[in-house]
Amino acid sequence: MDILRTIKERRSTLAFKNEEIDIATLKEIFTYGSYAPTHYMSEAWRIKLYQGKGKQILVQAILNSYQRVGMLPKGDSPKAVRSRESIGNFLLTIPHHALIYYEKPQDRIRNEEEYSSIAAFIQNCQLAAWEYDIGMLWTITPYMHDEQFIKEIGLDPDKHKISAVLQIGYPEKVTRDKGRKPVKEFLEVIE
Ligand SMILES: Cc1cc2nc3c(=O)[nH]c(=O)nc-3n(C[C@H](O)[C@H](O)[C@H](O)COP(=O)(O)O)c2cc1C
Repeated sequence: MDILRTIKERRSTLAFKNEEIDIATLKEIFTYGSYAPTHYMSEAWRIKLYQGKGKQILVQAILNSYQRVGMLPKGDSPKAVRSRESIGNFLLTIPHHALIYYEKPQDRIRNEEEYSSIAAFIQNCQLAAWEYDIGMLWTITPYMHDEQFIKEIGLDPDKHKISAVLQIGYPEKVTRDKGRKPVKEFLEVIE
């Protein structure tokens, strides 16, 4: 295990094998995730993990939301039905979806702390997963801000914030390394 190599070699996964990951492994990965820094040890991350038949609940809620926000045609015209089926079937091919959310603190600073800590949790999960040859795609999409969607998946929009949805599975293909800017382009040393 070489963390520096893993940091560089991890790639976002866009195509997954049709194979479930066993829950024990996923629990280990989320446990590594939970070693993220967390102010006041709040460990605010919460996960709804959708897999198997459970994916239907998430996918139906996503499709309903896409129709509400205009990303899919509304109604049940043949075109609308085809679009729903096509996106729905694609989402169902992804072996696991982990919806990451937390309870929003009222205080703005505390909220930023929780949100930041959860980003660190997610990256820890991605790096740990890569060690098990498991890929993830970190996604932020409009339905995460749709109150009706939040209710449909059993959360309270006044209380909860969805941080991300992670798509998870064994990579069918590892995406290209796009590289990164050299450090001199983003570092300013003041001395
Ligand atoms: C907060 C966040 C949201 C992202 N949302 C998406 C997304 O919705 N769809 C997607 O294809 N990639 C998404 N990505 C992944 C980036 O596209 C990816 O990290 C970037 O292209 C670099 O590729 P790499 O992760 O393989 O190095 C997201 C990444 C972050 C950090």
